[in-house]
Parts: sequence; C-alpha cells; structure tokens
Amino acid sequence: MLTLELLLFVGLFSWIYFLWSRRRLYGLLLQLPGPMGLPLLGIAVEYLIFYKRKMKIRTKYMDQYGSTILTWLGPMPFIMTRDPKIVEEVFMSPECINRSSQFTIPLTSSAKGDGLLSIEANRWIERRKHMNHTFRHNILLSFLPIFNAEAKSLVTFLGTQVGQGEKKILNDIVRWSFRVATQTTVGTDVKQDKSFENDTILKSYESLLHLITMNVMLPFTHNKIISTLCGFEEKRAGSASHIEKMIDKIIDKKLNSKPESGAEPEITSVINKAIELYRKGELPLGEVRAECTMMVVAAFETTGVTVCHTLTLLAMFPECQQTVFEELKDLYPTAGDFEVTYEDVQKMVYLERVLNETLRLIPSVPFVPREATQDFRLSNGVVIPKGVTIGVDIFNTHRNKEFWGPDADKFNPDHFLPDNVRDRHPYAYIPFSKGRRNCIGWKYGMMSSKLALAKILRNYKVTTSFRFEDLDFVDNVGMELALSPGIEFHRRT
Ligand code: HEM
Repeated sequence: MLTLELLLFVGLFSWIYFLWSRRRLYGLLLQLPGPMGLPLLGIAVEYLIFYKRKMKIRTKYMDQYGSTILTWLGPMPFIMTRDPKIVEEVFMSPECINRSSQFTIPLTSSAKGDGLLSIEANRWIERRKHMNHTFRHNILLSFLPIFNAEAKSLVTFLGTQVGQGEKKILNDIVRWSFRVATQTTVGTDVKQDKSFENDTILKSYESLLHLITMNVMLPFTHNKIISTLCGFEEKRAGSASHIEKMIDKIIDKKLNSKPESGAEPEITSVINKAIELYRKGELPLGEVRAECTMMVVAAFETTGVTVCHTLTLLAMFPECQQTVFEELKDLYPTAGDFEVTYEDVQKMVYLERVLNETLRLIPSVPFVPREATQDFRLSNGVVIPKGVTIGVDIFNTHRNKEFWGPDADKFNPDHFLPDNVRDRHPYAYIPFSKGRRNCIGWKYGMMSSKLALAKILRNYKVTTSFRFEDLDFVDNVGMELALSPGIEFHRRT
C-alpha cells in the first residue's frame, strides 16, 4: 500500500515538474490565439486523418484566429504566420537562422550528414560562403548549354504526347529537372543510371520528402522505436540507401578522376567545391555526400513542380497563354529548336510575371519552419522562447487578403506589374524566402524554369478540362496537389 502511495506521489511530482519545466511554452497560450487540438497530440490527428494534410485547414485556422497563430504538433508548440511584417522579422533575425530541428533531424539522419539545407547557424555561415561561389553569375551562365539541351529533350518527349488527349506529365517533367539538377550540381548525367531509368531514385527522394513531412507533423516519430513501429525506419533506410549508392558512385568517380593535361579547368560546381574542401581537410567525406544529396533535391523538386504548375495554370487561362506565346513568337519566329541566351531570358517579361504569379498561388515550397536559438521578441510583443518553431506559411502569406486584396486567390499575372510590386510589402511575396537564409538557387531556378517554359510554350499550346477552382493543395516539404490535372499538348507552328 505504502509502495503504491509512493509511486502515485512520484508520478504526480514528476507530472508537476514536467508542467513547470514547460511553463514558458504554456505562457505562449496567453500571448497567441490558435487551435489547441488534443492533449499530447495537438492538431496532428485532425490535420493528418480528417483533413488529409490539406492546406486549406491552415487557411481556415488563420481566418478564424488571426494571421499569427499558436498551435501544437504533438507536445510541442508551433507558431505559424502569414503576416509579412512578422515574416520579415523572422527572416532577418540572427536568432532564427536555424531551420526547425523537427525538419533537420530527419533530413540529416537520411543523408547521414549536414548540407546547407540542414546545417546549424554556427556552421552555416561558412558553408554558405563556400557554396555561394558555386552560384555566381558566370557559373549560372555556364549552365546555359545544359539548360538548352535538356529543355530540347523535354520538348521532343512532349511531341510524343501530341494527339494523345490529357496526360499527367508531372513525373516526366521531374525527370527533366532531375537530369538538369544532377548535371549542374554534381556534374553527372544520370541518363544511363539504372536507378534513374527505372525511377527508383526519384521514388526514393519522393518517399524521403514524405517521411520528413510526417516527422514534422508528428514529432514523437523522431523516437526510433515509434518510428520503427510506424514502418518509417524501414522506408527511410531503403530510400536513403538508393540515393546514397547513386551519390557515392558519382563522388568516387570525381575523386578518382585526374584532370587531363591541357583540359579546361572544371567549373566550380557544388560537388567540385565540396571535394576541394574535403581535400583541404575542411569537410569530411560524409558531408560531401550530404551536401550533394541535399543540393540535388533542393534543385530538382522545386524547379520540376514550378514548370508543371505554370503549364497547368496557363492551360486554365488561355488568354494569358496567348500573351506568353506572342512574346515568344517575337523572339523566336519559327517553332522547333532554338538556342535561348541569357539576353533572351531577360526579354521574357510577361512569362516572368506568369511564373511569379504561379509561384505566388502555388509556391513550390509552401512552408518554411525556423527555430529560435535564443528567446526572440516580435514587434507585436510576443516572446518566442528558445527552441520553439516558428513556421512561415508561404502559401497563406501569398494569399493574405490584407496585402493582396479581395482577389488574392485569383490568377492574375498583373500582380507583378512594376507599380503593383512597388506598392506591396516586400515580404508579401517570398517563394524563395528572403533575408539571411534565403534560397541559394533562386536565380538558377528562375532561369532554368523560364528557359524550359519558353521552349515548350513556343512549340505547344496546352489545354486542360480541369478547373482552377478545383485545385486542392496538400502540405508537403515540396508542394503537392491532391489531384494532378491532365494537360493536352497541341503543336504550334
Ligand atoms: C523554383 C525553384 C525554387 C524554389 C521555389 C525554391 C525555394 C526555396 C525555399 C523556400 C527555401 C527555404 C529558405 C528558407 O528557409 O528561408 C530554399 C532553400 C534552399 N534552396 Fe531553393 N528553391 C528553388 C530552387 C533551388 C535550386 C535550383 C537550388 C540549387 C541548385 C536550390 C537550393 C536551395 C538550398 C541549398 C537551400 C538552402 C539554403 C541555405 O540554407 O542556405 N533551390 N529554396
């Protein structure tokens, strides 16, 4: 009897201590409104099971509680914002350089090391400085022949779809972006690689991204035992090993190849820079692999969906497509293959507006989770305690009616006319994020997407029976559509 009482006492004491140690987290409840969800689970069950990760639930919460809200994912508080003023404070703050550990822990464990995507603030500054070299203007220009050649192959492939009715082309476009990404970042064409030919490698990347999304939503799955019981560990190990094999093969080949005498010096691609640091003893081999693994996914996943979504929206809005076509016809009077130069890309001003509007309504990365490394006070007086995640909701920032007006949900490339851009809050449009830790590849992403779209849209008219109103968005590290619209291709002359 005495033992039972003692156990109850210890249990009660531990529970009170647990609540006391988290008093600063609960203090947030007094500062920010938002949905609480269930004890210990937060909104995870509601979000995953009832709403199937639909983005519109976040919109519903924010319409109900305000543009910056507090919610709980598992036992951890999670602040979300769609308010450009708060977004600016987060992106500019030295206390919010780290991505949330709920995102980086599964990423690092899958890649077995850190790349720019996951690395912590204290090591990030130096790594970013090194990697910035690999995205300099002259290096991007040196990618133009690859962008041109791969876009030509994609246009040839799409020719086989003419007259075939509506087709789902996301996978084919992602195969294009993967080949571009691997050639430009790790200097290797994977066309002949078995795991690329049979789609294993793309499915592995896709599976890892899905697992990372689940880890962010269900923080208790970071526990190895729970993760194993959910079947996540087996899936992660399988997918990670396919990717590791491919990247290791590429790194081995680079490490063992001697430069030919008289050959052109190799460009400072991501892999060359990482190997240079490895040879100087500044980067362990595992981190070379992790950097390459993460850079490839950051490049191909984003540009692939961006091009696919732009084609989808243009198929839904034929008048805008016609304006794009006329702009392209002025530049390239005859259809077929043509070389796109950097100067040409600068002249595609309407296409750029369309691309921006696509990234506004369907941002390829819908959500960016950052973590406070110190207590951090926002201008609205809310203090975010050290270790708490603050998620910038890019999707809902881009549709915030206070900044985009009542037609925020409508497709209108004129949102990006110079006068309209000038009058808007600079953090109301953040597809590549902004501030200290923005996307390193944003110029690359815009250039390669515009170039591919120019070649496709000069050669084909795209149509679809899918309605804009029926698009439904699903939360994922990379944007997902609940139903992917089919697109029909018609040849232009
Ligand atoms: C349309 C294309 C793209 C979009 C929409 C996009 C978007 C983003 C976003 C939203 C972030 C998160 C930034 C943050 O946490 O604040 C990011 C980070 C990053 N992106 Fe991109 N991205 C694109 C293309 C690319 C390309 C082509 C590359 C590489 C070739 C790339 C490499 C990276 C890397 C390495 C990071 C992490 C940067 C750091 O932490 O220093 N991205 N991107």
